[in-house]
Amino acid sequence: MKVLLLNGSPRKEGCTYTALSEVALALQAEGIETEIFQAGNPEMENVKAAAEKLKEADALVVGSPVYWASPSGQIIEFMDKFCSAAGKDMLHKPAAAVASARRAGTTATLDVLLKYFTYHEMPVVASNYWTMVHGNTPEEVRQDKEGLQIMRVLGKNMAWLLKCIEAGKKAGVELPEQEEKIKTNFI
Ligand SMILES: Cc1cc2nc3c(=O)[nH]c(=O)nc-3n(C[C@H](O)[C@H](O)[C@H](O)COP(=O)(O)O)c2cc1C
Repeated sequence: MKVLLLNGSPRKEGCTYTALSEVALALQAEGIETEIFQAGNPEMENVKAAAEKLKEADALVVGSPVYWASPSGQIIEFMDKFCSAAGKDMLHKPAAAVASARRAGTTATLDVLLKYFTYHEMPVVASNYWTMVHGNTPEEVRQDKEGLQIMRVLGKNMAWLLKCIEAGKKAGVELPEQEEKIKTNFI
């Protein structure tokens, strides 16, 4: 089993990466493969590369720094394109969002990111608090012991859900039948 983690910061190994690394370590401890993909560049070529990786992945984690109390502009552009490129491969895969902030805007950021998942029928994985870390530098994030615990618990919970899904498949539980999409435009 594999989990794809998208780092929505233009800083490759900054705070968001530090938080995602803690989630990845917890997943690896449960025998699950992980890959952190640099999604801070929303150019289509990069989005397509991530979309290819999602085909082989069983779950998705999207991390973003908080910019002006919202996700980074980069991850919003990335996810808008990613949903067009990879929407079919998102369906029914467990997903989680992670926000990294110096201080404020985390829950608003999480709300925006979760909407990409819930549109695509993805079970949202939670932790023992809303999935955020605090810090302006990776060193500060590493001092946020509660934040790191939240990331670890998130990784463990995701591993548990992935194993439940795997066991369900072996027991013959099938994905729900997909209905033809009805689109009613009130114009
Ligand atoms: C353009 C910009 C806007 C920011 N806005 C906020 C904000 O609204 N609230 C906050 O707490 N931190 C804000 N920050 C700080 C970052 O969210 C914080 O340092 C984050 O942990 C950086 O993650 P990264 O190292 O992965 O990029 C902002 C940083 C930048 C560059």
